Amino acid sequence: MRVLFTGGSGKAGKHVVAYLAAAGHKVLNVDQVPLRMPGVADLVADICDSGQMFNALSTQMDIGEMDQGAAPRYDAVVHFAAVPSLLLKPENETYRVNVMGTYNVIEAAVKLGIKKIIIASSETTYGVCFSEGIVDPKVLPFEEDYDIDPMDSYGMSKKVNEVTARSFQRRSGFDIYALRIGNVIEPHEYAQNFPGYFVDPGQRRRIAFSYIDARDLGQIVDLALRKDGLGWQVFNASNDTNSVCQSNQELLARYFPKVPLSRPVGAYESLLSNRKVKEVLGFTEQHNWRNYVADPAA
Ligand SMILES: NC(=O)c1ccc[n+]([C@@H]2O[C@H](COP(=O)([O-])OP(=O)(O)OC[C@H]3O[C@@H](n4cnc5c(N)ncnc54)[C@H](O)[C@@H]3O)[C@@H](O)[C@H]2O)c1
Repeated sequence: MRVLFTGGSGKAGKHVVAYLAAAGHKVLNVDQVPLRMPGVADLVADICDSGQMFNALSTQMDIGEMDQGAAPRYDAVVHFAAVPSLLLKPENETYRVNVMGTYNVIEAAVKLGIKKIIIASSETTYGVCFSEGIVDPKVLPFEEDYDIDPMDSYGMSKKVNEVTARSFQRRSGFDIYALRIGNVIEPHEYAQNFPGYFVDPGQRRRIAFSYIDARDLGQIVDLALRKDGLGWQVFNASNDTNSVCQSNQELLARYFPKVPLSRPVGAYESLLSNRKVKEVLGFTEQHNWRNYVADPAA
């Protein structure tokens, strides 16, 4: 597919773009910083500028396309560009960039007739990750039908983006899927960070101990691109197990003793449930942390 990808120069994006290119997609990366990945075109542009998004989506991506004449229509847009966390920029700026940027990208894509749009939402929409104080989930595991109610500007921006996406889906009838992405782990971070998580799992409480390998996230985006006809959808994007070596029995008793379970959970199953993305898109994780770090509990 011919894919316009926003935010491909970032932590998650560079792995997802590499996965998509390796899977045979032709990708243009739209970012404020070029990625400079062989085989992937770059366009420096600002998602907060609607005109730039309409222009990016209607222009040839490289000289080869210039040779062919007028720009072909993109098959899909994958939108990752954002302020990716709380506490990086002032809260109102995080909200502005994420909400208006996402509006601009989706509006341009829909009005230009691009029938597949994937957006990066976040586990923070569940309202625990960036809440003030120590906050319990209403229920675990986190599943897509949860009543999401974040209290911070980043989580709010992602919730609003889901509302925006759903509205544009209703207007267009196109496929618009939001991925509630968990904490993204790059290959080098296993050895660097996981031993510390095993010693102090409490540092992972706010994200319910979950993670998503950046390359497995690439697989999820690729599967979402290939799966047509689902209309508006939300998928959690997480690996099969938690990012710590303790069992759910230990974690729940220690960190979430008052939180009810909506169903029985496996001993090490991710509490940011990936059941839907497995069942509906056919996700099969390739990069469990146990492939890269010795499991002290084994
Ligand atoms: N990293 C995580 O653990 C995580 C978890 C959940 C959701 N997400 C979401 O996934 C997406 C990617 O996150 P990431 O960790 O790779 O973030 P990142 O900051 O590493 O990458 C974001 C990219 O967006 C670009 N960008 C920012 N503002 C822009 C603008 N106005 N115009 C054009 N480009 C702009 C940046 O230059 C950067 O390359 C984001 O939407 C983020 O909210 C990330």
